Amino acid sequence: MSTTFTIDTATSRANPTPAPMKRLTVPAIRASKGKGGDPLVMLTAYTVRTAQLLDPHCDMLLVGDSLGQVIYGLPSTVPVTLEMMAAHGAAVVRGSYHAVVVIDMPFGSYEASPEKAFESAAYLLKQTGAAAVKLEGGTAMAPTVRFLSERGIPVVGHVGLTPQAVNALGGYGARGRSAAEAEKIVADGCAIAKAGAFALVIEGVVEPIAIELTRMVACPTIGIGASAQCDGQVLVTEDMLGLFERTARFVKKYDDLGGRISAAAATYAAEVRSRAFPGAEQVYAPKD
Ligand code: KIV
Repeated sequence: MSTTFTIDTATSRANPTPAPMKRLTVPAIRASKGKGGDPLVMLTAYTVRTAQLLDPHCDMLLVGDSLGQVIYGLPSTVPVTLEMMAAHGAAVVRGSYHAVVVIDMPFGSYEASPEKAFESAAYLLKQTGAAAVKLEGGTAMAPTVRFLSERGIPVVGHVGLTPQAVNALGGYGARGRSAAEAEKIVADGCAIAKAGAFALVIEGVVEPIAIELTRMVACPTIGIGASAQCDGQVLVTEDMLGLFERTARFVKKYDDLGGRISAAAATYAAEVRSRAFPGAEQVYAPKD
């Protein structure tokens, strides 16, 4: 059965029919580790309508700072601001009822100190109603993850290929090909999990690292370019819908939305130019 939505214009709240499932919680996600249930399903969402469509199928929705490239055409996630994250995060919370909504902390909003991170994370949660934040980094970020977690801010960690560090890493290639780098990524993931992260994104690493980390940490691991043996998977929604010609090797395209949008626009343009649109059904007849 498909879900329909009635928009309450006073609150911008979309009321779904049938009534939504109860919203999942951070403790439920955390406790799913090792229970033998289905892998966790996570997708990115940046807008209310996308959130509405994805929500019934997902355990977590990630308001990723990938919105920098996907929505704003920025060259990387580095220029993304707290205000951008807050605006899109609030839209995703308004469009979701079931999934735990996690918001990325943008570059520059958390690295300087745990106190700075708390201020930024609290701003994001207050502005949006999201349940948790995600931040990138390993051992160096562990004290910050502990500081936030102990003060009521649930944190998802993110190790391996960390896109905010593109300038330091020199690109978006897979990480952990050398023994030293693999050892560091495993140590990073363990430190973040031990510091209290309730889930850990592992991005763009050689598969044995993802398998080892999944075995070693007490929280669920969410893979992206990692391994099917992670406790869950995440993809950028626009990537998996086929909105872009070029994507990373780890993306599987479940549709060709780019091709379909282009074809629809071409048909519309042809009908406008031939005056086939608007037709009789799309114009208002005067009252008799
Ligand atoms: O910003 C993002 O979309 C992410 C995912 C790729 C994990 O961090």
